[in-house]
Amino acid sequence: MLPRLPVHILISWPVLLVQVSTADPSKKSPAAPTRPPSRPPPPLADPSWALGLHLYQALRSDSISVNTLFSPLLVASSLGALDGGSAGTTSSQLQDLIKTPSPSKAGAHTGDLLSEALKSFTAANGTSFHLHTSSALFSKQAPPVSQAFVKESQARFRLLHQPLGKGDSKADLKQLHGWAKAGLGGLEGAPLAAYIQAKAGALILANALRFKGLWEREFSEGSTDHRTFLGKEYTKVMMMHRAGLYRHHEDIENMVQVLEAPLCGGKASVVLLMPFHVESLARLEKLLTLELLSKWLEKTNITSVSISLPVTNITSTLSLQKQLSALGLTDAWDQKVADFSGVSDKGKGKLHLGGVLHWASLELAAQAGKGDADLEEENIEKPKLFYADHPFIIFVRDNTTGALLLMGALDHVEGEALHDEL
Ligand SMILES: *[C@@H]1O[C@H](CO)[C@@H](O)[C@H](O)[C@H]1NC(C)=O
Ligand SMILES: *[C@@H]1O[C@H](CO)[C@@H](O)[C@H](O)[C@H]1NC(C)=O
Ligand SMILES: *[C@@H]1O[C@H](CO)[C@@H](O)[C@H](O)[C@H]1NC(C)=O
Ligand SMILES: *[C@@H]1O[C@H](CO)[C@@H](O)[C@H](O)[C@H]1NC(C)=O
Repeated sequence: MLPRLPVHILISWPVLLVQVSTADPSKKSPAAPTRPPSRPPPPLADPSWALGLHLYQALRSDSISVNTLFSPLLVASSLGALDGGSAGTTSSQLQDLIKTPSPSKAGAHTGDLLSEALKSFTAANGTSFHLHTSSALFSKQAPPVSQAFVKESQARFRLLHQPLGKGDSKADLKQLHGWAKAGLGGLEGAPLAAYIQAKAGALILANALRFKGLWEREFSEGSTDHRTFLGKEYTKVMMMHRAGLYRHHEDIENMVQVLEAPLCGGKASVVLLMPFHVESLARLEKLLTLELLSKWLEKTNITSVSISLPVTNITSTLSLQKQLSALGLTDAWDQKVADFSGVSDKGKGKLHLGGVLHWASLELAAQAGKGDADLEEENIEKPKLFYADHPFIIFVRDNTTGALLLMGALDHVEGEALHDEL
């Protein structure tokens, strides 16, 4: 096998030359401050980041997980809504899950932060990204549900209440899948690996989210440009490229690159974490803490970067019961101890959480949003390489509130398999 590093540099060179030379030297040279210096609030005070990171690590401790993706904001806000219908230790365990390590601005309530972030993201739909999302609390043969709870969860957290039909578990699963497909704007989600058996009184929390970011500036996508992605398997994939000014940081000690790319209109951005060299994400995942992430994000600086990314979709269908239990949510699942008296005053001894299901899909494509042609030409000098031909972690965060809409890992890209030839 050839040594990898030299190959990587050789492959990347032509891209750089082509892209850098397209800059028009006659235009006035725009210096770095083309983007406002203001930064979104740090993740340390945000409930979606705290839950997101814990849940991510719980999911990834299972070594079979490949291409994990979920929406911390949707899970956190739906758990927040459920907290509104619970009491006692059921409620305190829910609250612990969405607790932040440092207090937020002026004592803002966690529920308010999540509700605000949902509104902020929804408002950017169509400009910075295309978003389909749906959240529901399904109930199986439940006592009458409180209208106050239904109204509140819908207004603040976009969580709708839906009864599950009278059929067996197969019929329930069919109903849930149909709901998810509609929530994903018609996209067929991956099948659910876990088995769902809803007893009478079961509440099933379900989230569905499909996301396609629109870059501030378009990437180029050569149709003949097939490269190798060195993931779980080596595959031939389509890559997209762009050289430009981006927030970038290199943590030399930990050998990790951090890149933040704005989406159109600046309402949201995509953050990527990638090891310097080809390796699985296990080492990087062990390093991840909120403190380190905050530090990395603060250290990113506008830099000339030549980016290459695979054109692909990350899709995931998850059952989060095991992970949420491991994170301390234990009482909610147990009919005898769960207290969802705010969901129904006749719920004691009956209502319990029967499942937390999650469908998510993220499309990585070359397109920019409207208006990128009017943007000033960038002055690219000696760009750093961000050549994503191996696994990376991806985040989508809201600019205004700082909330985390998506978190995921790309370990594998579909494509023709390549064999390690000697
Ligand atoms: C985003 O906009 C699209 C197209 O207008 C629409 O179909 C979709 O429902 C919107 N998503 C949300 C979450 O409002
Ligand atoms: C992004 O957030 C910062 C800080 O909250 C704000 O000053 C800036 O105007 C925001 N940008 C956009 C495009 O909303
Ligand atoms: C960002 O870059 C500028 C100039 O390129 C430099 O002066 C500044 O110290 C850098 N900031 C950080 C946090 O590295
Ligand atoms: C990703 O999914 C979208 C639709 O869901 C599809 O149009 C697109 O071709 C897919 N991209 C790749 C690289 O498979």
